[in-house]
This record gives sequence, structure tokens and C-alpha cells, in this order.
Amino acid sequence: MHQAWRTLIGSTALLLGIVGLDLATMDAADPIPDSEFKALVEQDAKNIVALLSEAKIKKTADRSVKSSSLMIAAYAQSRMGKNAADDAKLATLRDTAIKLAKTDKKMLAGALPLAKTLSPSMAAAGNPSIKPVDLLKETGLDLEELMYQFKKTSVGGLGIEEEVKANSKKLAIKPEAAIALARRTAIVAEFCETLQPQGGFGGAKTKKDWDTYNKEMKTAAEALAAAAKANKPKDLQTAFTKLDGSCVQCHNKFK
Ligand code: HEC
Repeated sequence: MHQAWRTLIGSTALLLGIVGLDLATMDAADPIPDSEFKALVEQDAKNIVALLSEAKIKKTADRSVKSSSLMIAAYAQSRMGKNAADDAKLATLRDTAIKLAKTDKKMLAGALPLAKTLSPSMAAAGNPSIKPVDLLKETGLDLEELMYQFKKTSVGGLGIEEEVKANSKKLAIKPEAAIALARRTAIVAEFCETLQPQGGFGGAKTKKDWDTYNKEMKTAAEALAAAAKANKPKDLQTAFTKLDGSCVQCHNKFK
């Protein structure tokens, strides 16, 4: 497996990088590569714009918007510190995404113009702080909101759960799309290291099991990326099956 990818999703440095406790660790963490960054930002930005453009905005649109915005902020923040010339742009994208994530439910429709500015090549505005921030603290996002991106598109998600299940039965996804999906899932796993199920841990719902299932999700995402990069369809399908298994196991216990 590609060394940098392992560093990105395998190290505490990245968690700190994304959640933003320590600027120095950003140097050690691998930023999300260009092609994935573009695909992922565009996927989430498109979802947000579509949700806010609906004649009748969905009741749960705020959660979908929060989920996609958090991810955009994470993608942007992972790349900060790589190239000084890009930092202000990335910080602007991150801060715009955070602002959208925090938009009051009643004000969502009015946030459409701001949502339309989200782009992988967004220009810098003002003089944003390029220090990493704790994205979970900044947005107040909870686990239910984080999982929204996995839901069906009909309810404001990105249809990822269906995509994972479908590809574990019959592989149809393009390698680039699989790599982006793997990256997204790995970032979700990073956030799950900090987040808890509703009601917290206790009784049969142990933190130990949570960590085990989450780690399985992360490992399956790594295998998925490796198989897609090596263009090995059989391994890719197996990785989708494993990934689906990790989702189901955690849901059986915690959902
Ligand atoms: C570490 C545990 C854990 C893992 C791993 C996990 N989930 Fe979840 N997921 C949850 C919990 C807990 C909820 C319930 C959230 C709530 O409503 O409070 C949830 C909710 C969901 C929901 C929304 C509820 C629903 O059924 O529509 C979807 C969709 C979802 N998860 C998809 C996935 C997918 C896809 C994966 C794997 C790629 C995955 N999850 C991996 C814990 C997990």
C-alpha cells in the first residue's frame, strides 16, 4: 500500500491534523491528493447546493448540509500547510464550510449564495487564519449528522451505503470513485474516534467494541483504496464486502 495513504489514515498525526489540535503535526500528515480533493469537494458542494435549491427544503436538510460541510472543511484543512500559496484559499474554503455547517435551520434557504461559492479552487477572501481548528468543536456535529452523508440521495445523503452494498454484490464503480469513497470513509472513521453513539457508552455498548468496528471500517477503506489504485476488481469487490460488514456490525450493536 502507498506509504503516504497509510500515514494519512493510520496515524494520530492525521487525527490531530483534521481535528486540528496541533499545527506541527500537519507537516507529518499526508494531505488529500489533488484529484481526490477535487472530486470530494465537488461531490459534497453539489449536494449542499442541490439541497438548498429545492422549492421546499427538506426538514432534515440542516443535518445533510452539516455533514457535507464538515467533510469539505476536513478535506480543505488536510491540505493546509502543504503549499503556503494555497493556505489562504483552503482556509477560506474551510471557514465557509464551517459557516454553512453552523447555519440555523430557519436561515438555510438564504445560505444558497454562500453554498454556491464552495469549490476546490475557491479564491481566498480576507485574511483567514491558517491555523487548524477542531472541526467537531467548531461545528458541534454529532454522530447522527456525520452518518447523514451515507444515506440515500432521496433523503439528502450521497447514497454511499447503497453504493457500498451494490458494489459488494456486483462491482460497477470506477476506480477513481472508489478511491474517493475510501478516502471519505477513512475520514469518517477518524471522526468516529472522537464521536460517540447517542446516549454514550455503557452496558453492552462498550467503547472497546466501538473502536473495534471503527478500526475495521478504516482497514476496509484502506484495502479499498489499495485495490482501486492497483486496479484489482476482485480485491476491490472483496473490500466492499468487508467495508459493508464493518458498517453492519457497528449498527447491530450501536444503532
Ligand atoms: C463505529 C460505529 C459505526 C460504523 C463503523 C458505521 N456506523 Fe453508521 N451509524 C452508527 C450509529 C451509532 C448510527 C445511528 C446514529 C443516530 O441516529 O444517532 C449510524 C447511522 C447510520 C446511518 C443513518 C441511519 C440509517 O440507517 O439510515 C447510515 C445511512 C449509516 N450509519 C451508514 C453507515 C455506513 C455506510 C457505514 C460503513 C461505511 C457505517 N454507517 C459505519 C455507527 C456506525
